[in-house]
Amino acid sequence: MARRKTARQLIRRFHILLKNKAIILNKLELTEETYKNQLNLNKNKTYQDAKNAILQTLKVNKTPSTNDFQLTGLNRSQLIGKLGEIEGEIEKRGGLETYQSASTQGQDGKRGGDSSKKLVEWLRELKCYSPSDDTNNTTVKSPTAMEIGCLSSQNEISKCKIFHSVTKLDLHSQEPGVIEEQDFMERPIPKTDASRFDLISCSLVVNFVPDAEARGEMLRRITKFFKTGNDWPKMLFFVLPLPCITNSRYCDDASFGIIMEKLGFVEIRKHTSNKLAYWLFEYDSKRRNLKFSVKKKELHPGGNRNNFCVVLS
Ligand SMILES: C[S@@+](CC[C@H](N)C(=O)[O-])C[C@H]1O[C@@H](n2cnc3c(N)ncnc32)[C@H](O)[C@@H]1O
Repeated sequence: MARRKTARQLIRRFHILLKNKAIILNKLELTEETYKNQLNLNKNKTYQDAKNAILQTLKVNKTPSTNDFQLTGLNRSQLIGKLGEIEGEIEKRGGLETYQSASTQGQDGKRGGDSSKKLVEWLRELKCYSPSDDTNNTTVKSPTAMEIGCLSSQNEISKCKIFHSVTKLDLHSQEPGVIEEQDFMERPIPKTDASRFDLISCSLVVNFVPDAEARGEMLRRITKFFKTGNDWPKMLFFVLPLPCITNSRYCDDASFGIIMEKLGFVEIRKHTSNKLAYWLFEYDSKRRNLKFSVKKKELHPGGNRNNFCVVLS
C-alpha cells in the first residue's frame, strides 16, 4: 500500500515536471527535439548552475512537492534556470526510467493493472477480429496492432493471439529489440498498408503529453496509421486517467467525445473504473471532418480542477 502511494506521488511529480518543462519550452519558442542544441545547454552556465544546485540539494526520499513551478513574469535567463532545475530533478529522481517503472507497478497484474485486459475482453465479446466462416477466403490476413507507449511485451494485447503481430513502441524502451524506442510523433507516416495497422492502442499516453496542442496532434496523427483495406475493422483502444474527463477545467466527457467524433471515431465501448476511463472506438475515415478545430475553452471553472485539455488546430 505504502509503495503504491509512493509510486503515485512520484508519477504525479513527474507529470508536474514534464508539464512545466513544456510550458518553458513553449515560452522560449523552442521544441523538445532541438532545444538542447539551440540553447547550447552543455555550456550554458545559468542552466548548468541551476541543475547542479538541484542535483546537490534535492532530497529524493522526501515526499515530492505537488506545487507547480512559478513561471509567470520570468525573463529568458530565469526560464532557462528553471529548465535546469526541472532537468536536475528529473535526473536526481532517476530519469524517465523511474517514472516508467512507477507506471509499470501500476500495470502489475497483481495490482489489477494492464489496461489491455479490458481491450481483449471487449474484442472477444465483439468477435470483431474472429476469422469469418468463409474458410475458402485465404487472402485475408490476420489483423495487426500497434501499442503506443508500451511498457511490457507481456501485456494481454501481445499475448492474446488475436493479432498477427503487435508493433510495440515507447519513448524509452524497457525491452530493447522487442519494444522499439521511438517517439510516435516522429514515426514516419506510412505510405502503404503494409506499415499501417488494424488496431492501435494508446493507453495513458496522451495525458503524458504535456501540451494541449501536441495531444490533439497525437490523436490526429493516430488516424494516419490505420489500414485503408476492408479486411478488418479499424479500432482505437484509448485510456485516460478519469479526472481528465471528470475534473478538468477544459475537458469533459462530452467535449472529448466531440473531438473524437470529428476525427472520425465512433464509440463502440466505454468503461470507467475508480481511476481510469477506457474507450474502444471504431475509426471511419469517411466520418472525419478535416476542417474542424477545437480551441482551449474553460468549461468548468473552479479552484479544485485540473488543467487537462486537448486542442485541435
Ligand atoms: C503512463 S505510461 C503508460 C503505459 C501503458 N500504455 C499503460 O497503459 O499502462 C506512458 C508511456 O507512454 C510513453 N510515451 C509518452 N509519449 C510518447 C510518445 N510520443 N511516443 C511513444 N511513447 C510515448 C512514455 O514513455 C510512457 O512509457
